[in-house]
Amino acid sequence: MELGGALTIFLELCLTCLTIILVWKRINKGGKLPPGPTPIPFLGNLLQVRPDATFQSFMKLREKYGPVFTVYMGLRPVVVLCGHEVVKEALVDQGDDFSGRGGLAITERNFQGYGVVMANGDRWKILRRFSLTILRDFGMGKRSIEERIQEEAGYLLEELRKTKGAPIEPTFFLSRTVSNVISSVVFGSRFDYEDKQFLHLLQLMNETFTEMSTPWTQLYNTYPEIMQYLPGRHNHMYHLIEELKDFVASKVKINEASLDPQNPRDFIDCFLIKMHQDKNNPHTEFNLRNLVLTTLNLFSAGTETVSSTLRYGFLLLMKHPEVEAAKIQREAHRLQSVCLYSSTSVNDRVKMPYTDAVIHEIQRLLDFVPMGVPHKVTRDTHFRGYLLPKGTDVFPMLGSVLKDPKYFRYPDAFYPQHFLDEQGRFKKNEAFVAFSSGKRTCLGEALARMELFLYLTSVLQNFSLRPLVPPADIDVTPKLSGFVNVPSPYELCLVAR
Ligand code: HEM
Repeated sequence: MELGGALTIFLELCLTCLTIILVWKRINKGGKLPPGPTPIPFLGNLLQVRPDATFQSFMKLREKYGPVFTVYMGLRPVVVLCGHEVVKEALVDQGDDFSGRGGLAITERNFQGYGVVMANGDRWKILRRFSLTILRDFGMGKRSIEERIQEEAGYLLEELRKTKGAPIEPTFFLSRTVSNVISSVVFGSRFDYEDKQFLHLLQLMNETFTEMSTPWTQLYNTYPEIMQYLPGRHNHMYHLIEELKDFVASKVKINEASLDPQNPRDFIDCFLIKMHQDKNNPHTEFNLRNLVLTTLNLFSAGTETVSSTLRYGFLLLMKHPEVEAAKIQREAHRLQSVCLYSSTSVNDRVKMPYTDAVIHEIQRLLDFVPMGVPHKVTRDTHFRGYLLPKGTDVFPMLGSVLKDPKYFRYPDAFYPQHFLDEQGRFKKNEAFVAFSSGKRTCLGEALARMELFLYLTSVLQNFSLRPLVPPADIDVTPKLSGFVNVPSPYELCLVAR
């Protein structure tokens, strides 16, 4: 080869290396990130992190690199946190530093940083404070949120009685009733169970959570720069969310036309009143976009999470009939305040430690959001000897905490004793992070816990759960395991007691 040709190739190689180093430097912004597998330029750690088994890939890397490591999702470095101690140190002990919401590219086109779940900075603080206040108040005035749940549980029992013990698939029985609780908070009223539009909305929310968990979505989140221009299944989610957004926007319009500032009927009214109060402030966060998207956040997070947990819970109870359902029923019947056909009250929860432990164990095993919702650091952050530059994305592996063997004796087994002391009293376990922890912890936790308890006890007091296959053959493996663990559909019979 001629000298000139060799020199050109050499210079081209140097230029390529320089470009790669510059890109890496720009991404790392001069921090000192935790170690991790060596990325391939532009592809990142695709060879180590499988889009169809992301959580499992991370757990493998943890064996090699320890509980804090860096992976490159395409060009973007992400710091992965594993195990109770590390996650607590970040989300709780350094709560402010880790309170940012990280990128979730698949939803970016729909939300663009608006709505409480995806917001950051002051916008997030304002929307979070406002949403929490309204959720607390809505019990607002006349009827407590507990009464709303009890009433809805009554409707559910009615529907279940109509099945007369024939096999049913429980998904939409549960999502209709659970969704009606949050609907009455955000929209001021419940839907009729036969309402076609309601069923369609539930279908959309169910599909959204399923789509969030496919390998396609994982690929999109890793390579959004390319995937957004490619046709394919990953674009489906955008349309699902847009349709839900349109529905909420139409509800807002209806409320606006009949608003009485003295008598707010629901979350939307309260937000509209704030918008009117702030109408001369150009920087206010009380605008139409935040209203629609925060309402949508509450409506969908308030529906799919609790109903999936109940669905999975019934499956686990059928797999473990000898202990679980019978003990819960006995515990409920022992209580003087509870007779066979009256509804349980949340005050009964402290008197029903076994039931409370079972619910915690259902949530622990389901591990609904195994990789958490992405966080990011809000400033340059020193953490365990590393320096995470402001804006670095962080994945708190909630699943690794919920199955941390230091805190749970049998991490993969259904063992309610994880939450009971020797005397059978309820025992808190600090590694129970199904709702995450720290500043961004689930905003609907109190509501969700109330719903799980009241629905589970109401159903078990009134029905026996009968599987269609022997308990040993019941497969409790989720249908999909990605952003969320989606429980598999199944059939059961509910036989009136
Ligand atoms: C079993 C039920 C539920 C589970 C397991 C669950 C779990 C979670 C998790 C893991 C997060 C992420 C926290 C973080 O970023 O670290 C979260 C956030 C959130 N949840 Fe829930 N959730 C449940 C029920 C609910 C309900 C009923 C509502 C609505 C009323 C709700 C509304 C939200 C909202 C708005 C956020 C975002 C909070 C923020 O970014 O500040 N969740 N949830």
